[in-house]
Amino acid sequence: MDVMTAVLTRRSRQTLNEPAPGDAEFAYLLGGAAAAPDHGSLRPWRWILLRGEDRKTLGESLASEAPPEQRDRIAGKALRAPLMAALVFRPVAGHKVPEWEQMAAASSVAYGLMLLLHSRGYGSIWRTGRMCESGAAHELLGLTPTERLLGSLDIGTADGGEPPARRRTGDLADHVSTFASRPVPV
Ligand SMILES: Cc1cc2nc3c(=O)[nH]c(=O)nc-3n(C[C@H](O)[C@H](O)[C@H](O)COP(=O)(O)O)c2cc1C
Repeated sequence: MDVMTAVLTRRSRQTLNEPAPGDAEFAYLLGGAAAAPDHGSLRPWRWILLRGEDRKTLGESLASEAPPEQRDRIAGKALRAPLMAALVFRPVAGHKVPEWEQMAAASSVAYGLMLLLHSRGYGSIWRTGRMCESGAAHELLGLTPTERLLGSLDIGTADGGEPPARRRTGDLADHVSTFASRPVPV
C-alpha cells in the first residue's frame, strides 16, 4: 500500500476484534512510527500495552471514579478492542525544545503508528476521554507526576465490511493560501 493510499483509506474503527498485533509486531511497527519528526530526538513518549484481563482492570479502575449507575458502561469501554496501547507523554523538562513541540512529536508517532497498523490490515482508533484525567488510571498505569496520558489507541481487526467512506475530501481552500494572497491589514 503506498503512503497516499494508506492516508486516504485509514479510518478510525469503533468495532475491533482479534487479531491484534502481538508484542513483537507492535514493537516492529512502533519502530517505524518512531521515525517521525522529533525535535531534539527526545522521544518524549512511551506506550503501555494492555490485553485481556489488563483491560478489565483498567476499565474497573476508571469505573471506580464514576457514579454507580455509569460504572458498567465505563468499565465496558476498556474492552472494545483486543489491544489497548496507552500513550504516555513524558516531556523532557527544561529542555530548549518546548513542551508543545514535544507533544507534537508524540502525536506524530501516534499517527504514524495508526497508518502502519492500517497498512498491515489492522484497525485502530485514538481514544481520549475520561482516561486522560483519571487519577486512578494514572496510578494504575504507574505514571510519574510529570507524565501525562494522551489517551490510548484501541487496536484490532475491523469487521470485514467496507470502511466508512472518506469524509475529508472537501474544499481545503480556506486552509491554505499563498503569501501574495494574504489579507493585508488596513
Ligand atoms: C487526540 C485525539 C483524540 C481522540 N479521541 C477520541 C475519543 O475519545 N473518542 C472517539 O470516538 N474518537 C476519538 N478520536 C478519533 C476522532 O474522532 C477521529 O479521528 C475523527 O472522527 C476522524 O475520523 P477518522 O479518523 O476516521 O478520519 C480522537 C482523535 C484524536 C486525534
